[in-house]
Amino acid sequence: MVAMTKAKTLKAAKGYSVRPATLDDLKPIVGIYNWAVNQTFATIDSEPLSGEEAQAWWEMHGKRSFLLVATDDTGVVGWARLLPWKQRGFDVVECLVYVDPVHHGRGIGDALLKELTREARGLGYLTIVASVAKDNRAGLALFTKQGFEVVGTIRNAAHKFDQWMDITLVQKELET
Ligand SMILES: CC(C)(COP(=O)(O)OP(=O)(O)OC[C@H]1O[C@@H](n2cnc3c(N)ncnc32)[C@H](O)[C@@H]1OP(=O)(O)O)[C@@H](O)C(=O)NCCC(=O)NCCS
Repeated sequence: MVAMTKAKTLKAAKGYSVRPATLDDLKPIVGIYNWAVNQTFATIDSEPLSGEEAQAWWEMHGKRSFLLVATDDTGVVGWARLLPWKQRGFDVVECLVYVDPVHHGRGIGDALLKELTREARGLGYLTIVASVAKDNRAGLALFTKQGFEVVGTIRNAAHKFDQWMDITLVQKELET
């Protein structure tokens, strides 16, 4: 019997795998993001990204950024991204994790965040952070489960769907 690699074994068990994104993945990535824009408070954006904006988003930030996708037999089911936090000079990176709502609860967000944290460490960042709406229970639970701590909450940080949103910053040290 041919031995399976660890990655294949994981895919067989979970039904999905995680890999770096390619430009071909951009359309489904933006589809998942725009669903959250239109339907949720997970992002403060209230206007879906256009094709042009998506292209600019793909190109921004260069080498210290990183974009991963989770795929299964149906295609892209989630994505996660590292983006440098604020100005140059900070050794801090921000992360985003989005999973297609049809596929929530399968461990995909967890797998994406684990891999993204590994990438952040490899890129030399010392701290990884995420900005999560205070009422986003799933988002906050995802991060705290992996050892992120709450730094604080900015009250009335953004206005969406006729409501003010409070945004909580979480952080994790990336030991070398
Ligand atoms: C947050 C999100 C990425 C979680 O993805 P997911 O694939 O459904 O999460 P997983 O199945 O990997 O669950 C990982 C952990 O998150 C937490 N979690 C996930 N869904 C949850 C829910 N509905 N309520 C409470 N905790 C939840 C749990 O701690 C879970 O671990 P457990 O199953 O061992 O208890 C997903 O809900 C999502 O895409 N939301 C919109 C975007 C977003 O809010 N991103 C976070 C801010 S960038």
